[in-house]
Amino acid sequence: MIFYFSGTGNSRWVARGLAQHLSESTLVDIAAALRAKQHDFSLQPTEMLGFVFPIHSWGIPPLVRSFVDSLKISGYAQQRVFGVFTCGDECGYSNIDFKRLISAKGLTCRHIYSVQMPNTYICMSGFKLDTPELETAKMVRAEVDVQRISDALRADSPIQQYHQGRYNFLKSRLIYPGFIRFAMDSRPFRVDERCVSCGRCERSCPTGNITLDAQNRPQWARHCVQCLACLHHCPTQAIDYGKHTQGKGRYTRFASDTDGK
Ligand SMILES: Cc1cc2nc3c(=O)[nH]c(=O)nc-3n(C[C@H](O)[C@H](O)[C@H](O)COP(=O)(O)O)c2cc1C
Repeated sequence: MIFYFSGTGNSRWVARGLAQHLSESTLVDIAAALRAKQHDFSLQPTEMLGFVFPIHSWGIPPLVRSFVDSLKISGYAQQRVFGVFTCGDECGYSNIDFKRLISAKGLTCRHIYSVQMPNTYICMSGFKLDTPELETAKMVRAEVDVQRISDALRADSPIQQYHQGRYNFLKSRLIYPGFIRFAMDSRPFRVDERCVSCGRCERSCPTGNITLDAQNRPQWARHCVQCLACLHHCPTQAIDYGKHTQGKGRYTRFASDTDGK
């Protein structure tokens, strides 16, 4: 059983790759499970238990934390548990935090990995999308990484595959809490005259934070998780987050908001 959370498709892509390599048939969308208030899951004796999600500000997205906190797993008898994080570059102390989160549920996790994928964070000055060349190189590498991780899981033999980076105390212990407190705000979202009222933003929002007004233009409520699905999925780039996302291009792993779901 693999639980995943994904805004722009990278983590969904990794979750699907792992499921394929490991012949794990159950893929659970964390955001959908939370919306459906589904917290009880049953693990078969031969199943593994995996968690795949993106790194947000060198930490675990709060939505994933809430999900794990509320999770009730029956049938756990030391089956293999793993965490695979997708990141643009570095994950900081997310490995330590994940281990702690999982241990609190009585689960033992010896396999924690990360896969570098195309970057999606563009909301601040200095943060931009990868060049097409870097994006291609990351995807080639990611295919290899998913295969390596699957092999390690099948053999139950942990490997070194984690991008921690530098200045981790600063990033994961100082910046991350600040990000959670101050930056997860939907008020800076804007939509301009390029909006074609297609509703893709609403459909792509994993938390149901977007409603459409009488002209079918998006309106954001206050429980945004900053996954940026709406902004990146907009086919006309009509959505911006403040001024720093303007003219920076957009990225999604799948062609539309419903592909690959
Ligand atoms: C709000 C936000 C914060 C991010 N913070 C980080 C980070 O701290 N380190 C990093 O390497 N990538 C960071 N990224 C990039 C994503 O982790 C990366 O692109 C990920 O693969 C996106 O996964 P998804 O498409 O499944 O949502 C961030 C992206 C977003 C949207």
